[in-house]
Amino acid sequence: MPVATIIGASRGIGLGLAESYAADGWTVHATTREPKHPGDLGAVAGDLTIHGLDVRDPNGIAALAEAIGDGAIDHLVHSAGVLRGVDREEMMAVNADAPFNVVGALFDAVARSAAKKIAILTSQMGARRGGGTPSDLYGESKCILNDRFREIEPKWRAAGVTSVVFHPGWVATDMGGRGAPVSVRESVSGIRRIIAEMTSEESGKFLTWKGTEHPW
Ligand SMILES: NC(=O)c1ccc[n+]([C@@H]2O[C@H](COP(=O)([O-])OP(=O)(O)OC[C@H]3O[C@@H](n4cnc5c(N)ncnc54)[C@H](OP(=O)(O)O)[C@@H]3O)[C@@H](O)[C@H]2O)c1
Repeated sequence: MPVATIIGASRGIGLGLAESYAADGWTVHATTREPKHPGDLGAVAGDLTIHGLDVRDPNGIAALAEAIGDGAIDHLVHSAGVLRGVDREEMMAVNADAPFNVVGALFDAVARSAAKKIAILTSQMGARRGGGTPSDLYGESKCILNDRFREIEPKWRAAGVTSVVFHPGWVATDMGGRGAPVSVRESVSGIRRIIAEMTSEESGKFLTWKGTEHPW
């Protein structure tokens, strides 16, 4: 079976992705900061391995890469992110730096897979409406993520890997709030469908969970 690796799967969209891939029989590697108390992630049925990872920790990232070893990752999804309650350093480390540290460590595993696909969850809040960098910390961090993605993606594509960044919708999670209009199930289903269908033609795009292109 194909292999999915979901970074930040303790809650929210990452948990929904892990559940969805596992339910379809995929082999799933899912990360959480609390592997000894995995909560809902621990209850996911299927071929799922839980790894402990704080995405700010280079040793943890290296340990995850080592655990995967010479295995392959067909779909790698980086969902971990923070919106509030952290200082600037943590916001930038989690939202803008970690996706590239994680992908860097796992890239060879993706490149040796059959599907070779990477998706990083960004946000519409990171878009430069009218030219300027978003003035709020979260928007700025996602804007930096988007800029870095556009810079590095051609290198990933040259290695045969298809990658995109996603706005997952305004989703009913702890981050999005329970009143948000899009359910985790809807967002996950859209994201999964698009990853499955995307070809190298789509690589480098900023997509929404509905498959439309989002302006940078
Ligand atoms: N929900 C929305 O409406 C929305 C909209 C636009 C973009 N997004 C983006 O979509 C992604 C998922 O959002 P969500 O709504 O699912 O958020 P969420 O429910 O708040 O979940 C955030 C996830 O990120 C993990 N995380 C945070 N800091 C981490 C760290 N240092 N190391 C490892 N994991 C860490 C959390 O783990 P812990 O449980 O350990 O904290 C949790 O699993 C994020 O990148 C977010 O910016 C969401």
